[in-house]
Amino acid sequence: MELGTEARTQAAAVGGPPSLEIARPDDWHVHLRDDEMLAAVAPITAATFRYALVMPNLVPPIATAAAAADYRQRILDVVGPPSEGREPFVPIMTAYLSPELDIGDLRRGAEAGIWRAVKYYPAGATTNSEHGGSSLPACGAVLDALCEMGLPLLVHAESTDPTIDIFDRERAFLDAELAPVADAWPELAVTVEHVSTRAGVEFVADHPQVRGSITPHHLRCDRSDLVANGLRPDLYCKPIINSADDREALVAAATSGSPDWFLGTDSAPHPTSHKYTDRAKPGIFNAPFALPVVAEVFHRAGALAHLEAFVSLNGCGHYGYPPSGEKLRLTRVAEGCGSTGEPIPDSVVTADGQQVIIFGVDEARCWRIEWL
Ligand code: DOR
Ligand code: ZN
Repeated sequence: MELGTEARTQAAAVGGPPSLEIARPDDWHVHLRDDEMLAAVAPITAATFRYALVMPNLVPPIATAAAAADYRQRILDVVGPPSEGREPFVPIMTAYLSPELDIGDLRRGAEAGIWRAVKYYPAGATTNSEHGGSSLPACGAVLDALCEMGLPLLVHAESTDPTIDIFDRERAFLDAELAPVADAWPELAVTVEHVSTRAGVEFVADHPQVRGSITPHHLRCDRSDLVANGLRPDLYCKPIINSADDREALVAAATSGSPDWFLGTDSAPHPTSHKYTDRAKPGIFNAPFALPVVAEVFHRAGALAHLEAFVSLNGCGHYGYPPSGEKLRLTRVAEGCGSTGEPIPDSVVTADGQQVIIFGVDEARCWRIEWL
């Protein structure tokens, strides 16, 4: 595979602006919603990403193979066919693991190629998680079936114990629930979704069967950004954005080049009416500028040579897909990030008038992206 970014990263060495070519990226964790919101956001994800692992937390949850097949078709309908010469966008469906999950249906869906993973939400941890579980180790029958079918388990790793501080809940879940599961099911392939803490980074490093996705916002922000200069509902998500030390650990993991780590944007659109209200809903809409945000993080870490592994290769390796044959070029515009020359929107508006704020506008001004 002639994909080594290192050789193609021309940067300070030649004195010009950083510029690199990478394979088309993938998003290994995205919320596309339904109806008008789906129509507004799915084409945005499809414009950049080749594969997208689609989360099932709709109302009601996507928990049968038939519901997943219908949802996949609704996604493909709003995205439409690829333009001339482009590879198609591939939504990959996940099953919502609730206590009622029908293992026979799960098996048939997997055999039919509809499911490619199962998602566990602790009930009450986040948006539309009410149908999730109250104990991961208690889901033994499903975990047995996943091992047998070779399907990976995706975990929202966040304790819902109200006595545990919100900033400690990832570690608490990993220690109390995922560690015993990893020990008891050593064949189970696990992704800790949207890892948000140093404890999460260490957990992945310590468990060969476990990998981790990381979001643009957890790489870019820490909790001071969330609350220090006015409360920012647009930066509120689950798991909560954590400390500067946690962010440092996430950046080190993502930029390391290790195959353990890949991009999952957790792009999760909520209308402003649900964000700027007495109880903001958790979720950050970053799909439009996820790539420039991550590129800027890698640039500042001096690690652009590992960008392609994180956004385009490692997830494909973990989930068993060939990387995209399409390429794009990222070029950082001159110091100051004045403008790429393109208009940069700061929100999208759905056909029924819901406005959604976009994360990453500043970084979008820093990076020009061209399809090759
Ligand atoms: O912040 C989040 N929003 N985290 C999740 O896990 C779910 C997501 C959503 O669906 O809005
Ligand atoms: Zn999510």
